[in-house]
Amino acid sequence: MDKERKLIIAGNWKMNKTVNESIDLANGLVRELKDIKEVDIAICPPFTALSEVSKSIIDSNIRLGAQNMSQNNYGAHTGEIAAGMLKELSTRYVILGHSERREYQRESNELIAAKSKTAHEAGLKPIVCVGEQLDERETGKTEEIVSSQVRGSLEGLTEEQMLGTVIAYEPVWAIGTGKTATSEQAQEVHAFIRKLLSEIFNTETANAVRIQYGGSVKPDNARELMSQKDVDGALVGGASLDLRSFSELIKNSI
Ligand code: 13P
Repeated sequence: MDKERKLIIAGNWKMNKTVNESIDLANGLVRELKDIKEVDIAICPPFTALSEVSKSIIDSNIRLGAQNMSQNNYGAHTGEIAAGMLKELSTRYVILGHSERREYQRESNELIAAKSKTAHEAGLKPIVCVGEQLDERETGKTEEIVSSQVRGSLEGLTEEQMLGTVIAYEPVWAIGTGKTATSEQAQEVHAFIRKLLSEIFNTETANAVRIQYGGSVKPDNARELMSQKDVDGALVGGASLDLRSFSELIKNSI
């Protein structure tokens, strides 16, 4: 597939996989995906498995991502993980502002913007998640919500930092439900996000930033979604937990 921007497909394992299970899956993916050059591939295991998975993928084309981090660099923040700790394990990406954290941990746009800044300062590339709830879509508020999330969560980033940021559009109603947004619905919001980026930054930056789609992406719908002009990859939950389905999903996207 001929794309304007290189695809980036990341597996968000969420709170799944023990360390041993993570090593098995990572080793399998290294074998299965070793010849893939057309897609940037990342896997985001739970914190407890980062260190071992980092070793498994060290000489491969798969990069490591974390699922969250603190906005603070060190200190009295019980239970938190700092960007520098992730960096030490050769982590490249960090998912920020996932809808599950926005909902269950009450993460605000302001907090996500602070985390994004901290991530960049440590040399990590944030994957900043945005997306509307079902009732917001049904009442015609998708653009309003996505706009305030994009503007708020990227507040204060420099142009250079924006270029090193990935945005993930994940409509909340499509996460883990088997209800994928149609490729037209995804394209429409992705194009809207790119237009916002050109207003906040400039057209050149907007055209360079990669925007992933997330929400029930599977091996059999990946190609259709990835073929949309402004869809530059996927953030995959359920289908990234299985060696066969994640490998197929990536191969089908090319
Ligand atoms: P599913 O692929 O399981 O719908 O999850 C999407 C997601 O939340 C990825 O971050």
